[in-house]
This record gives sequence, C-alpha cells and structure tokens, in this order.
Amino acid sequence: MKIRTETIKAFKKQRPISCLTSYDSITAEIFDRAGIDLILVGDSAANTVLGKPTTLPVTLDEMITFGTAVASVVEKAMVVIDMPFGSYEISPEEALRNSIEVMKKTGADAVKLEGGNRIDTIRLLIENGIPVMGHLGFTPQSVNQVGGFKVQGRGDQSAEIITQAKNLEGAGVFSIVLEMVPADLAAEITEAISIPTIGIGAGNQTDGQILVWQDFAGLSEKLPKFVKTYAQIREQLESATEAFISDVQSREFPSSENSFD
Ligand code: KIV
Repeated sequence: MKIRTETIKAFKKQRPISCLTSYDSITAEIFDRAGIDLILVGDSAANTVLGKPTTLPVTLDEMITFGTAVASVVEKAMVVIDMPFGSYEISPEEALRNSIEVMKKTGADAVKLEGGNRIDTIRLLIENGIPVMGHLGFTPQSVNQVGGFKVQGRGDQSAEIITQAKNLEGAGVFSIVLEMVPADLAAEITEAISIPTIGIGAGNQTDGQILVWQDFAGLSEKLPKFVKTYAQIREQLESATEAFISDVQSREFPSSENSFD
C-alpha cells in the first residue's frame, strides 16, 4: 500500500522511518522495491548530479525533471520534492504557485521547505492540499548566511530550534528533517512534538533517518562524519571502467557472444 502522510505520522509510535534521496528512476525503483519508506528528491541534486558546490543553483525546472523521473516509478514509498532556493521565499502566493506546478508536473506526494520562519507560506500550501515537510538545523540553502557547513543548535540556539519545530508542527507539516544538530537536542525535539523527526547528522533518537544516496552507497568522494556507507559503488565503478578500457584496447570486448552474425 502506498505510504502517505498519515502512514508516516503513524510510524512515530510504531518504528523508525527509513528515507533516502534519489533523483533518477533507476535508483528510485531500487530503493522503493527494497522497501524504503520515503524518497526525497533533494535539492542536494545540485551537488550530487549537477556538480555544484552548494544547493543554491538548482532550478525549479531541474527539480521538476528529477522529481518526475522518481515519482514515475515509485509505487509504495512517499515521494517528497525539495522546493529549490528562490522558489518559495518571495511571497506565499509565489510559493503556492511553484508548489502546485511541482505537484502537478511530477506526481509527487509532498514538498519540503527549509527553515522555521515561513509559517504563513507553509499554512497556505497545506490549506491548498499540498503536504509539507519541514527542515530545521543546518539548512543548506542558508549556507552563506550561517557561514559554512556547521552544526546548528548548540548553546543558546537550541531554544530557537525547539520553538521553530513547534511552530512548524502547529502550521501542519507532517514531519521535520533535523540536519546536523546535537543528538541531545534532536532527541528533545522528537519528544516535544507529535509528528516524526527525520535525522541526518542528528543522532539516533529521531523518528527516522535520511541519507543522500550517493553517500550511503559509497559513490561520493568526500563524506561528512555523520554518513555510514553501505556499499562501495565508487570502487566497483572504477574497477569496472578500468576493465572495460582494457577489454576495448585488447579487443577482448566485444566477443563473438556480444556480436551479430
Ligand atoms: O537535499 C537533500 O538531500 C536534503 C537532505 C540532506 C535531507 O535536504
């Protein structure tokens, strides 16, 4: 059965929620058939697919292309699309227009917005039938403002993040990503709200975990401290490429099995 917001919310009381990013139909299909609960078409596509140093450059049209590829093949997991930088900040109305376009064109189940201050915008989206996921702690679209890729919520900052989480819950988001916050703070927020928290670099007391797929699969070259790799795809691709080059150069490939009479 298809996983939707109500299922994700119910998991809070039942079991941890597993989430991965995906930006293409092949990995989305693999993760979905393997039983992942939620697939995020993250704006991390700017880094992992487009090779940019931050998430800021990815456009709404690019997110729609990635989102359509993912939502077209996913049967069970919930599919959430990140609203990219510049698509929801100018006004609540523009955010609604862009979110409607994302939902219509991709067939996704929800959108994700970064930050804890755009409560009116989030309410407007939800009132108009668009489920919203929140994202607090380190919010990559604000990397220039916060001065780099840093843990958020230490010391005095913690109270503000707790308040933001409660405000997002009040606005009606169905869950909140907590990125790069101290494990104790993530546990406190998880306890303080009734919707699920999904952690990334937030310890193991959140209601679920998310990783960027190229990180978890060992494809990325540099890995943040909070990543655990579950495969060594980079090494495998490197040695496969070397083997292919060698076979082409020695005319081992194509053999008669790979040729037509
Ligand atoms: O864009 C993304 O991949 C994300 C995750 C890191 C949560 O927002």
